[in-house]
Amino acid sequence: MIIARTAVELSAALDSKTGSVGFVPTMGALHIGHRTLIEKARVENDVVVVSIFVNPTQFLPGEDLSKYPRREEADFKICELSGVDILFYPEVGTMYGKDEVSIKAPDVRGYILEGAIRPGHFDGVLSVVMKLLNMVRATRAYFGKKDAQQLALITQMGQNFFMSVEIIAVDTVRESDGLALSSRNVYLSQEDRVEALKLSASLKRATHLVMQGVRESNEITKIMLEILQPLSVEYVTVVNRRFEAIPEVIIGDTIVLVAARVGLTRLIDNVWM
Ligand code: PAJ
Repeated sequence: MIIARTAVELSAALDSKTGSVGFVPTMGALHIGHRTLIEKARVENDVVVVSIFVNPTQFLPGEDLSKYPRREEADFKICELSGVDILFYPEVGTMYGKDEVSIKAPDVRGYILEGAIRPGHFDGVLSVVMKLLNMVRATRAYFGKKDAQQLALITQMGQNFFMSVEIIAVDTVRESDGLALSSRNVYLSQEDRVEALKLSASLKRATHLVMQGVRESNEITKIMLEILQPLSVEYVTVVNRRFEAIPEVIIGDTIVLVAARVGLTRLIDNVWM
């Protein structure tokens, strides 16, 4: 595995390889969710590139940028064992200069739900992903459905800017008890960990309701909110794949989303129907 820390090193590493490039961008603290993306990239491409970069522009003031988990050595090992060809591990100075051109998330879709609670977050995500996709010369890039709005906006960016990269969506990986894997799960205390299960439990219930024939979004979200008590819920909503709120579930074009605070930790989860 080649470890590239600068744009020049990355370029030289890519020049030494041939064929399709599968790319998995991450912020590190790698878990089985990340590994699943890497494994899929490994199967579908000649060259696999992973980036680890805690992108400062997607954190709002007061968020967890400075305490975001950093586990360089373990992450390098995981990448090596997963068959990664090139690990890109840049510093902030490599990725950003002064007075730059940047990407702005769409006014509506980029500023609802996650974008409403974290205004500007997706501007930062899209800017860094645009940079990374270009630097890595990605043929295919892999993103988790866990961050559904992020995935939708990156897919839209690819279309709006006529980019040739193929954006691939990967199913959410969960613990055996249902908790969606997240680098932020390390913030959860033992009691938090139990409360956190309410997110996946509420989504499981939503799936059962739909299987029983319930379609009304309001009915589904009402029952979910009962399950989520007494957590501090930020949103529970039913949207289509374009992130428009819909009054009724349409099988094959629906995502049910939840965001809540468990103790001091923000968690998000969703289910695609
Ligand atoms: P990060 O949170 O490290 O996630 C990297 C990728 O792993 C994302 O595409 C995310 O959706 C996916 N992922 C996280 N948890 C997952 C799970 N349980 N199952 C499946 N996939 C999962 O998302 C980011 O980093 C950043 O915003 C980034 C895109 C790298 C831009 O900075």
